[in-house]
Amino acid sequence: MGKKVGKPLAHRSADVDTIARPMSNPRFLSGIQPSGDLHLGNYFGAMQQHLQNQEAGNSYYFIANYHALTSIQDAELLRSNTFDVAASYLAMGLDPERATLFRQSDVPEVTELTWLLLTVTPMGLLERAVSYKDKTARGLSASAGLFTYPALMAADILAYDSNVVPVGADQVQHLEMTRDMAGAFNRAFDTEVFVIPEARLNAAKVVPGVDGQKMSKSYGNGIPMFLAGKKLKKRVMSIVTDSTEVEDPKDPDTCNVFALYSLFATDDEKTALAERYRAGGMGYGDAKKALLEKVDTHFAAGRARYAELQADPSYVEDVLQAGAAKARAVAREVTDRARAACGV
Ligand code: ADP
Ligand code: TRP
Repeated sequence: MGKKVGKPLAHRSADVDTIARPMSNPRFLSGIQPSGDLHLGNYFGAMQQHLQNQEAGNSYYFIANYHALTSIQDAELLRSNTFDVAASYLAMGLDPERATLFRQSDVPEVTELTWLLLTVTPMGLLERAVSYKDKTARGLSASAGLFTYPALMAADILAYDSNVVPVGADQVQHLEMTRDMAGAFNRAFDTEVFVIPEARLNAAKVVPGVDGQKMSKSYGNGIPMFLAGKKLKKRVMSIVTDSTEVEDPKDPDTCNVFALYSLFATDDEKTALAERYRAGGMGYGDAKKALLEKVDTHFAAGRARYAELQADPSYVEDVLQAGAAKARAVAREVTDRARAACGV
């Protein structure tokens, strides 16, 4: 009937606000998948920065259980992993008065927004996603959920008007896609409903695992944050080193043990250990003992608190519920703005 299809008529509803969130007023947001025990890579690559950010501005951290459903199909496991991530953050000092901690699935607005975003997302954009190719190559089932995962992640970010998203390098492409989707929606409906977010790369470089590859749950080479006693000792002692003899000088800069030790040590401690490496006469066993001591003390208080939280699940649940209520109020507003802008 002659009606033009394509870009909707330029239209600006009165209740669609123009949003600007200046960088001087950051809202941090990040999601953590509940895919297993958090390890040193997760701590130094993500959690530590999340905890520091809670001092600086308003922060939203959520446990991405909808994302994890693309790889975990075991209800009990998903539930307990989700709880464990929440308890780990609280144990390490996340202050629920200052940072909003919640479960992704407790904010259903996010799935509503995912659909709105998918309608402006070109297939080609999703087809270029590296993580989909990587994950299916590693044997994850090629579900439509896994394929559209970046749109769910974009909804996570846009739902809270967040402008700073601390992530690891592997997530930067998803942030670019989020910006593309937000821009596409804003342009299609001639609105500024969505704040365009920026990625902030985590400060820590890649934390090596016990085999020297990137530490990762999926490589089984991790040192879990709250491992203790003999198990921790065994794990640390299993770190791969070269075969330099005890009496010979060693190179700290190519040693996994030294790299891990450096994450915990002060500059003076690093210099002192590096000198012992270069002088010769020190075996890798000694360096491992120094590292073991660091891991053990750094996480001692957190480990104790984690055990307390495991024994008091209702406290953790209360924190998650209160976080969800707060997060949901923001997400509802943003989603209503988006609905008004696109005419549903
Ligand atoms: P994993 O590889 O163990 O599955 P995730 O992909 O769930 O870890 O990562 C969660 C967060 O921890 C991300 O922000 C990621 O960048 C960070 N991270 C994970 N492993 C490392 C590592 N080895 N070094 C630095 N950061 C890491
Ligand atoms: N995809 C992220 C990961 O695998 C987790 C995540 C989901 C996320 N939603 C997010 C991270 C929003 C930052 C912002 O690590």
